[in-house]
Amino acid sequence: MSAMAASPKPPATRKEAAVSFEGAAVRLGGRTIWSDVSLTVAEADFVAVLGPNGAGKSTLIKAILGLLPLAAGTGSVLGRRPGEAKGRVGYLPQRHGFDPGTRIRGVDLVQLGLDGTRWGIPLPGTSSRKRDAARVAEVIELVGGSAYASRPIGELSGGEQQRLLIAQALVRRPKLLLLDEPLDSLDLPNQAAVAALVRRICEEERVAVLLVAHDLNPIIGYLDRVIYLAGGGAVEGPPEDVITSETLSRLYGAPIEVLHASDGRLVVVGQPEAPFVHGDRHA
Ligand SMILES: Nc1ncnc2c1ncn2[C@@H]1O[C@H](COP(=O)(O)OP(=O)(O)O)[C@@H](O)[C@H]1O
Ligand SMILES: [Mg+2]
Repeated sequence: MSAMAASPKPPATRKEAAVSFEGAAVRLGGRTIWSDVSLTVAEADFVAVLGPNGAGKSTLIKAILGLLPLAAGTGSVLGRRPGEAKGRVGYLPQRHGFDPGTRIRGVDLVQLGLDGTRWGIPLPGTSSRKRDAARVAEVIELVGGSAYASRPIGELSGGEQQRLLIAQALVRRPKLLLLDEPLDSLDLPNQAAVAALVRRICEEERVAVLLVAHDLNPIIGYLDRVIYLAGGGAVEGPPEDVITSETLSRLYGAPIEVLHASDGRLVVVGQPEAPFVHGDRHA
């Protein structure tokens, strides 16, 4: 270390890394999806994962889960190799809504997150059953779902279903929560409401959250940082540093313009379609 480098924060206040990737790459079917990806997600940070369709956002989530191996570089998740900290990682896969006929109650869906294999059969002891029920009630309360958790999940609105699914992913007290497009089917006010909820969860449960999203605007005010995937690479940083014409043009390898609309929204103009984006920039 150079003696001249003045650190803005003393080391004691630095947060532990929940996720740390260094020069990472993933290959699927003989093709490099992204490479040279370096990023850090700090403890209890709320981070959005952004980028066009096919950029490799779900792939990043799966690499963090250890479901896909890194073809290059190194990755660490909660201080261990990806996949080795499973019990402390919550995951909500990219999915579509429940069939309206789905009869399982919200509360049972949340309970399922506690121990999927144990669900439906009697638990060994009353005290652990009580503890489990208390934790299930606690996370349902946290997501604001107490009023509808006893109803069949198929009868609930998209926003209500999403809140209960987040509760399910939270019930085991993870230190890292991975949410793949949880806002997908929600209208803008509900997207903002769920983002506000996730912000509160980060603080109250001290959990780091990576949330894959399409639209930055409804959630930008709640985020600590963003990871933007495009062009076979990624940039990570505070939204105001990443969502700029200069940074995104460099990432896409094409001219991109970030416009500030009069209502405060950011509009990214000139995004090439995914096949172009996958030109082997890093090859
Ligand atoms: N199992 C696989 N084998 C080959 N290619 C895959 C596989 N899974 C995903 N891909 C490809 O990897 C790219 C990134 O996919 P994905 O991570 O799902 O993108 P995103 O979530 O950003 O939309 C896409 O081009 C997709 O077709
Ligand atoms: Mg995806």
